[in-house]
Amino acid sequence: MEIIKEVTLMQARSKAAKAEGQKVVFVPTMGFLHDGHRELIKTGRKAAGKDGLLVLSIFVNPAQFGPKEDLSTYPRDMDRDLKMAGEEGVDAVFTPGVDDVYPRGFETFVEVTELQKHLCGERRPGHFRGVATVVLKLFNMVMPDSAVFGKKDYQQLKIIERMARDLNLGVDIIGVDTVRESDGLAMSSRNAYLSEPERRAARSIPGSLKAASDGVATGVRQARDLIEIMKKIIEKEPVAVIEYIRVCDKESLEDLDTIEDEALVALAVSIGRARLIDNRIVSIRLRA
Ligand code: PAF
Repeated sequence: MEIIKEVTLMQARSKAAKAEGQKVVFVPTMGFLHDGHRELIKTGRKAAGKDGLLVLSIFVNPAQFGPKEDLSTYPRDMDRDLKMAGEEGVDAVFTPGVDDVYPRGFETFVEVTELQKHLCGERRPGHFRGVATVVLKLFNMVMPDSAVFGKKDYQQLKIIERMARDLNLGVDIIGVDTVRESDGLAMSSRNAYLSEPERRAARSIPGSLKAASDGVATGVRQARDLIEIMKKIIEKEPVAVIEYIRVCDKESLEDLDTIEDEALVALAVSIGRARLIDNRIVSIRLRA
């Protein structure tokens, strides 16, 4: 497995792969890899085929953290990450430095103006501008044919799909289902912040999404009723602080009053130091 630190070397490596007719597939991450990332890598490996070039990037992107967020304490473990990447058949790990990604005087950003306003965008001003900008830059550095993102960060996935379409990036965006612990908690690098009691309380997050899905399957149609059902479950856990619970259109992310067919139910909850997000598509066609 190659480890590439320099932007120009990364571009040269991708150009060489393409010149040989290889497909370049890209999995961008901020490191501290877990089984959710493992699934992204496996999907990437399949998409690249055995002859393609599978690139994984590890870059903790300062531009997507707010001033009061966890940039300085974001968990990191490069040795473990490289081990997992090797096990899963990554061909090249790209680890650019902050100064290479954001050289002095950097002042160019990309924004997906409407989609970034909803859900997490309301409480994390600038977050999706930081995500879209770094993803566009990483695409220009890795020059992939396809790139893989998890559906746990559903809004991020939608924003990147829209950016790729709107700016004709020519990168096929592949979304991968959320990987969960045995009790349903979505895998996240930030789960590492949870103490044992907090970890138990976090079960209420997937529990509330299951209750929403069951509610819709048994006839609940009003968004406010679903939100109430979910709130009651999470509020049983004194350490859990709800940031938002939303029922929205799964493409525009705009709030819905009534579920006519399918909807995205999404929430953000803080437990101790961890801000956890999760989501689920609910459908009137599914039975509980
Ligand atoms: O999902 C992530 O880990 C990050 O937001 C991403 C896409 C790597 C951009 O920094």
